[in-house]
Amino acid sequence: MGMETVTDSRGLRQRVAALRARGGRIAFVPTMGNLHAGHLELVRQARRLADHVVVSIFVNPAQFGPQEDYGNYPHTPERDRDALQETGADLLFLPGVAEIYPQGPDLTTIVEVPGLNRILEGEHRPTHFNGVTTVVAKLFNLVQPDVAVFGEKDYQQLLLIRRMVADLCMPVVITGVATMREADGLAMSSRNGYLSAAERALAPRLYAVLARVKTRVEADGEDVAVIEQDALRELAAAGFQPDYVSVRRQSDLAPPGPGDTALIALAAARLGPARLIDNIFISMA
Ligand code: PAF
Repeated sequence: MGMETVTDSRGLRQRVAALRARGGRIAFVPTMGNLHAGHLELVRQARRLADHVVVSIFVNPAQFGPQEDYGNYPHTPERDRDALQETGADLLFLPGVAEIYPQGPDLTTIVEVPGLNRILEGEHRPTHFNGVTTVVAKLFNLVQPDVAVFGEKDYQQLLLIRRMVADLCMPVVITGVATMREADGLAMSSRNGYLSAAERALAPRLYAVLARVKTRVEADGEDVAVIEQDALRELAAAGFQPDYVSVRRQSDLAPPGPGDTALIALAAARLGPARLIDNIFISMA
């Protein structure tokens, strides 16, 4: 059967009920559209995990700061619809802003994951994660999936969603999927499309710098703060404006202590009009 598209919550609930009536599990992949191979990998993973796959495309105004790229965020709904259909999604939810925020994004009830929402990305984008957790909670309530799939490129987002689901006792299993990369190492992102040819050629340096951070931390002979400072300097010298490079614990993004073995290095940097984020896992075992 072909993929259906619905734009209103009532239609969505009816279609989801029809999928449920057929039996089996429902997987959900929330996106903001302009889909690339990384998103399609999330859909493939959803297919492996469940019998029915629901995808949403909604550019969520609540997760953009006032100076950010909400107005320019790329919309490619026709292309996205074809790609989803080909990848095997069953149902696409494509709501407008008034459907998700009937009183407007500023007057909605907020879902906040305190602490985690103010560090790293949250220091630079103070309202971002409340927007993410609020919209994902709404979408979970609408779709009521058994499992939901998120990319590990947005590692902090993945942790916040796991925390929200645990704190609010939401009956959804959260699955993370490894970051998909271009051949030169650049993490796939809708925002890569903002880069000029020269910036695009430079962009893989972000991951290369993280890879060097990983090598040095795993060698275990140096102060992590020195490694982070070197990485910031290297990015700035290459032409980025880095916001942070930070080594943290994978489990809760706290600074690592003695005996912590599962770490992650996370970075965010501006390159021309784009703000890129990436991360790399570090194993001290
Ligand atoms: O990762 C994204 O694309 C967005 O933050 C999400 C999860 C779809 C919420 O708007």
